Amino acid sequence: LEPKHGVVDITAQQGKTEIFEGVETETYGYNGSFLGPVIRVNEGQTVTFRTKNNLAEPTTFHWHGVEISGEGDGGPHQILQPGASHDVKFTVNQGASTLWFHPHPEGATAEQVYKGLAGLIYVEDENSKKLGLPSKYGENDFPLVFQDRVFTEEKQFDYQAVRNEDGTIGDTLLVNGTFNPKLTIGKEKVRLRLLNGSNARNYTFKLNTGDKFQQVATDGGFLNKPITMSEITLTPGERAEIIVDFSKYDADHNIALVNEENTILLPFHIDDQKTSSIEISDSLNDFAVTDEERNLPVTKKLELFGMGPMVSINGKQFDMNRIDFTQKQGETEIWEIYNKPDMMGGMIHPFHIHGTQFKIVSIDGKEPPANLQGWKDTVSIEPSQTVKLAVKFNNKGIYMFHCHVLEHEENGMMGQIEVK
Ligand code: C2O
Ligand code: CU
Repeated sequence: LEPKHGVVDITAQQGKTEIFEGVETETYGYNGSFLGPVIRVNEGQTVTFRTKNNLAEPTTFHWHGVEISGEGDGGPHQILQPGASHDVKFTVNQGASTLWFHPHPEGATAEQVYKGLAGLIYVEDENSKKLGLPSKYGENDFPLVFQDRVFTEEKQFDYQAVRNEDGTIGDTLLVNGTFNPKLTIGKEKVRLRLLNGSNARNYTFKLNTGDKFQQVATDGGFLNKPITMSEITLTPGERAEIIVDFSKYDADHNIALVNEENTILLPFHIDDQKTSSIEISDSLNDFAVTDEERNLPVTKKLELFGMGPMVSINGKQFDMNRIDFTQKQGETEIWEIYNKPDMMGGMIHPFHIHGTQFKIVSIDGKEPPANLQGWKDTVSIEPSQTVKLAVKFNNKGIYMFHCHVLEHEENGMMGQIEVK
């Protein structure tokens, strides 16, 4: 989906989707019955997202990873009542990346995402066209949204019945909303844009063959060069772009993306009539944590703590009427985030900040691994870990920061920062 005269229409609606053969599941979607479109925008372009709420309940439209004013960000303050429309106009001011969008109303985010409200935003820039990356949508460049769900016997969603305070985990995997998916690709290099769109589950992706792949992008842009990896873990909200070289496999090869337990997440079918030789540039970006940023003092400290309904940040739970921090527009500050373990050991919290892409300066005092040296908007923090981030907002307004386990976010593991 591309802007027409600068406008993209995005409507949240309910519908029925045949996820399982012969059964209709009641679902939510953007512009369709389930999930949403891929919206493609260019750096420098001024676009209007014309949002409309055709649901029977209030919602918001949050652009996860987009550098946008607080007013346009679609957090819990920007509620759209049933039937209401709202234009969000902004200029794309960030480089090529795979971002996404989903609702964010207070108290109903987790359920609305669960029912199917999630879509993708691709940002393209001048640089991205010169890198030789596979970029034919649906041919050698695929969005892959991973979500786990629980269905009732009638194959419906009953979110409230299965809700878990520490994150709702499903027993059924959907990829791009498809049950039992299979992806046909050519005998060539293929780009997979992975999004962990689950409420709470973490995924470790690897190839069942044990072969390696290359990661080329993080949440918010390209890595400086392709990083060779044997597996990658994504927590909720995180994205990665990877390149898998299928040219060495044949059609009778059983090749699949699997998780750490070797459970198949996505099997591939190779069409060996389709080949290409693609040379990917070795130099993709010029991302760096500068010495100046490294030497900045910590000016914001956050402590993530607790489980279930007792989750908190700095001992507090979310309050719509409380601003927790302020920061100056355009000024970089170092945020230090500590995941304080509890008697049970604690949990990984994927920590997300709205309206910006940040840099990971250090993890437990050490330089982050090579595949995290790129723009991020969500960072996985393990129990006892301390992560330092260099955070700069290029726009003004009120933004959320929170754990992206959606039930933690809803239970109050969220705060607000006002950028002035
Ligand atoms: Cu992906 Cu506050 O959200
Ligand atoms: Cu959490």
